[in-house]
Amino acid sequence: MLRTLIIGLGQAGWTLHLPVLTRLRDSAYGEGLFSAEPIVVYDPDRLPAGRRDGTIAPKRSLKEAREVLDPARTVVHVCTPPSARIEVLRQVAELGFRKVLVEKPLSADRAGIARILEVRDAWDLNLSVVSHWLDSTLTRRLTKLVYSGRLGELRSIEATQRKPRFSRSLDTNGHPSAFDVEVPHSLAVALRLAGEATVVDASWSDMEVNGHLIPRMGAARLVLRHDHGVRTEIFSELTSLLRERRITLEFERGRVTGYYPVSRDDDHALMTVETDGREETEIFRDDSLASFLMRTYRGYAAGHRITSDLELNVEIVSLLSDAKHLCEAGGRETAGVPGTAPSSPGTVKHVR
Ligand SMILES: NC(=O)c1ccc[n+]([C@@H]2O[C@H](COP(=O)([O-])OP(=O)(O)OC[C@H]3O[C@@H](n4cnc5c(N)ncnc54)[C@H](O)[C@@H]3O)[C@@H](O)[C@H]2O)c1
Repeated sequence: MLRTLIIGLGQAGWTLHLPVLTRLRDSAYGEGLFSAEPIVVYDPDRLPAGRRDGTIAPKRSLKEAREVLDPARTVVHVCTPPSARIEVLRQVAELGFRKVLVEKPLSADRAGIARILEVRDAWDLNLSVVSHWLDSTLTRRLTKLVYSGRLGELRSIEATQRKPRFSRSLDTNGHPSAFDVEVPHSLAVALRLAGEATVVDASWSDMEVNGHLIPRMGAARLVLRHDHGVRTEIFSELTSLLRERRITLEFERGRVTGYYPVSRDDDHALMTVETDGREETEIFRDDSLASFLMRTYRGYAAGHRITSDLELNVEIVSLLSDAKHLCEAGGRETAGVPGTAPSSPGTVKHVR
């Protein structure tokens, strides 16, 4: 049975990984996979109180964490921001841990990827990246539709991700741009559905809130041309008070619109298929992080090398780097709403 060490107790580590793991350990699904011993947690800036039920064991250093854990049967979750990754990976490797999950995006740029792969190779880390939209039931259904050919050839993909991210953008600075927050999720799906791609257009905008200007954190827009001709457009807005995670696939003979769950409040997804003048909608459970963790822990327990998601996530970082370079080199400076002309260059979104 595997134990867990969570490093970084922010949004990802504390509010996503910890509750999902706790739930899985308590459910019948987790039987024989997750140890009942406490989940060890570490964050230099947050030392939570231990829980009365003994489910977590906070530690003051990674060395202290290592003293109570056997690396051969521990999965490490690196939930620090992309800017605080490489040193953490090196430290856990030096302490003997090999089974390591890293939050997305794997890195903020190509240089970071090269350094992460160096650490992986030097220490033979069994590295997996959290790209849980690939484990989503909605993504699986979309993939099945694409490969079945039921609606003919896939022509285009459009993803729209909106949410308010004012407080976290004001309080933290681990993400260099809006490309690093939500876009990696839908980009993983686009690559899974339509294969390799190149960036043909990209733009971003600043966030301005309450007199503060946060560069590049307002919105991000990315257009891809896949090698087999499909066009993908992804638009992510972090200044919206509405939450939405929508994906639309246009086929030769129909259209599919999917909505991923938008928050931890409810883990249902919705999918509508339109073809031959008819429309069918289904709603279903879609707890993708739990599915991802189950699959990954099973792989680690069986001693598998988990590399497939790593390659795809390296590709994601490369495409996002190309998009950022395009923006820096004077691509469109303002991310507009998809399908409309962008506002004038240099304009920022004002929110007060
Ligand atoms: N998969 C998802 O749905 C999802 C959701 C949220 C965030 N994320 C990703 O998770 C990563 C973290 O984002 P977040 O929103 O949780 O950030 P956050 O700022 O909320 O939390 C990061 C935490 O890491 C800690 N930290 C920094 N350096 C550390 C170190 N050297 N050792 C231990 N802890 C350290 C910080 O003190 C902070 O508490 C990002 O890459 C983000 O994109 C993924």
